[in-house]
Amino acid sequence: MSDAKKVILTCAQPTGVLTMGNYLGAVKNWATMQDDYECFFGVVDQHAITVKYSPAELRKNTLSCVAQYLACGLDPERSAVFVQSHVTGHTELAWLLSCMTPIGELQRMTQFKEKAAKLGFNIAEGEDANALKFAHEGARAGASVNAGLLMYPVLMAADILLYNADAVPVGNDQRQHLELCRDLAQRFNNQYSETFTVPEPYIAPAGARIMSLQDPTRKMSKSDDNQGATLFILDTPDQLRKKIMSAVTDSGSEIRATEDKPGVSNLLQIHSALSGDSVADLEAHFTGKGYGDLKKEVAEVVIAALEPVRTRYEALIADKAHLESVLRDGADAAQKRAYKMLAKVYRKAGFVERPR
Ligand code: TYM
Repeated sequence: MSDAKKVILTCAQPTGVLTMGNYLGAVKNWATMQDDYECFFGVVDQHAITVKYSPAELRKNTLSCVAQYLACGLDPERSAVFVQSHVTGHTELAWLLSCMTPIGELQRMTQFKEKAAKLGFNIAEGEDANALKFAHEGARAGASVNAGLLMYPVLMAADILLYNADAVPVGNDQRQHLELCRDLAQRFNNQYSETFTVPEPYIAPAGARIMSLQDPTRKMSKSDDNQGATLFILDTPDQLRKKIMSAVTDSGSEIRATEDKPGVSNLLQIHSALSGDSVADLEAHFTGKGYGDLKKEVAEVVIAALEPVRTRYEALIADKAHLESVLRDGADAAQKRAYKMLAKVYRKAGFVERPR
């Protein structure tokens, strides 16, 4: 890894099997960036505990996520693959950044509002008064939104800034979190002098927003109650075919990627991102054909792309010693860079250096 290369940092939560959205919006693109950038790929277990979780599942999912990363083409010889909790600095920097983040900014985050809504909370726009109301109502209902959920984007900003990343490849749903990270970097630089690179989002045009197969107006998500809505990268060919053949399509019969055809557009997008054919070429290819033909072909393209991923995963997950050695090396590389940055930030923030 050369010093001259620009740095990318990106992460996913170890909350189960990666979806086609994670794959096309994120991990598949990361794999193509490894020659051109110095890469840090994190598995963010500390983010995963902001919602209800089981420790045993988290442990299992963390190793599984690493094996999935490698199966999708992340190469530990060229990149640092690490677990967030193995590197000191993420939560430390998050604390410092939290002291520069108005609570209102965090309450306005779309993902926070969505997750809080899932817990039964409705947060009105903006004002601090609403925040109090929301906390009080929560207390009355006996439910609560934990402070970690609110702090989630600050920890994410710390993940990125700790490596002084130049670019962050993510799907479209992370755009707002990235914006907050950029604001925090600028705020810190203005307050304490130039320290952080202000990171650029890198959102690949194909696959940036893969939608649910059952409700193509919503993004494809791991936690969808309707499992037919989500393609997982470790699904068997039969499971993949079944889900794609029962995907919701739109009225009419023309195969076009238009706004009034979100279901067809989503299938074309998945095809395009995997086959490399442009959506316009695919529209031409499917002229005169029906939705059934489109689904059959998308199923074949998806199965062909994921079959090798599943085979590689099976071998990787069976070799715990290899996964552990990848994580040891990844943590060492990540810690080295993180430590330097944290020491610099602590000095600027006025913390006295620990006497040696
Ligand atoms: P997570 O775990 O939800 O998702 C991992 C990556 O997959 C992308 N993605 C999608 N892309 C296209 N279509 C979809 N339907 C879809 N669903 C998910 C996400 O945009 C993401 O790139 N907050 C982050 C994890 C994180 C992080 C970071 C990311 C923590 N720290 C630092 C970048 C940098 C998250 O929950 O991703």
